[in-house]
Amino acid sequence: MDKFNHLIDMDDYTVSQWNEILELAEKIKHSPEKYADKCRGKIMATLFYEPSTRTQMSFQAAMIRLGGNIIGFDNPSNSSVAKGENLKDTVKIVSTYSDILVMRHMQEGSAKAAALNADCHVINAGDGGHLHPTQTLTDLLTLKLELGRLDNLTVGVCGDLKYGRTVHSLVKALSCYPKNKFVLISTPDLALPSYIKDVITAHGSSFTEVKTIDGAIRNLDMLYMTRIQRERFASEAEYEAQKDVYCLTKAKMQYARRDMIVMHPLPRVNEIEVAVDSDPRAAYFRQANNGMYVRMALILYTMNNVPKIRPLLTGEIHNNVKCTNPKCVTQTELYLPHSFINRGDILVCEYCDERILL
Ligand code: NCD
Repeated sequence: MDKFNHLIDMDDYTVSQWNEILELAEKIKHSPEKYADKCRGKIMATLFYEPSTRTQMSFQAAMIRLGGNIIGFDNPSNSSVAKGENLKDTVKIVSTYSDILVMRHMQEGSAKAAALNADCHVINAGDGGHLHPTQTLTDLLTLKLELGRLDNLTVGVCGDLKYGRTVHSLVKALSCYPKNKFVLISTPDLALPSYIKDVITAHGSSFTEVKTIDGAIRNLDMLYMTRIQRERFASEAEYEAQKDVYCLTKAKMQYARRDMIVMHPLPRVNEIEVAVDSDPRAAYFRQANNGMYVRMALILYTMNNVPKIRPLLTGEIHNNVKCTNPKCVTQTELYLPHSFINRGDILVCEYCDERILL
């Protein structure tokens, strides 16, 4: 049983709770000085096993602006990880030093694995190519502030839909609001994983898949551009074959509606021409700024909400079955129970969502 307010996936909270967090973020953005002492005496640990600029610094700035303190590492080679310490031991100890632990890690399912062994709230700041819920809260706040709604939107998502964790969390979340439609723009090799497509249809939303920006851009309320996730490819040759396929240019923006916005979780590589930055519809720098306010709201919400007592793993333990995803955290953290949701003819890994055919 777990007694903390972990945020591993967006569905750890209900849609009305997401809305409460967004409302709080708006209030904080409006009058940040009112919140300057709300976390006095509290400590947040940031454990970043993978590179980060915005997520890490916006979390740190958020805690400092709330009057709290921060500890952590952004280079695990300077910590006992370099001596071979496993995730469990690092998390077990750091969580006793802190009130809230924010972790980014290269393995899929690592945030859930961390929560299983933590003595404080855990927030997933990105687990490999799997999920990134706090970027999604940032994206939802941006949509709300820029377009005034989270429903009835036609959203284009372009680039690396296979490995882009921000895409996975965003599409799952927007599917929960009524009448949203998705235009998935990618090469066949970087298409959205089928388990995310199933979430779209399960919520009664719809999607189409196209290969170019040109045909799709005219009808969009929002275009979400993403970086091709070089570090997730099996080989450099596979990355080379996909890189620079998409580039949003000033010329392409001429075909977009005047009220469309462009979002991007950043960092940008080549997928948006710098000339687009001066277009008022380019919302990505405003989006990055919203990330700090949403994280202030999330920290407060996490600390102040009465934790719900619930199990982190709800499936069946099959210690004789191995997850087939080579990037799953269970491949290296061997003490983890092999927990799966049984769907009849498939087992779904409870850490990384991999489907294993029986
Ligand atoms: C994203 C991430 O880390 O997944 N960045 C971010 O958190 N803003 C996107 C990316 O790295 O491409």
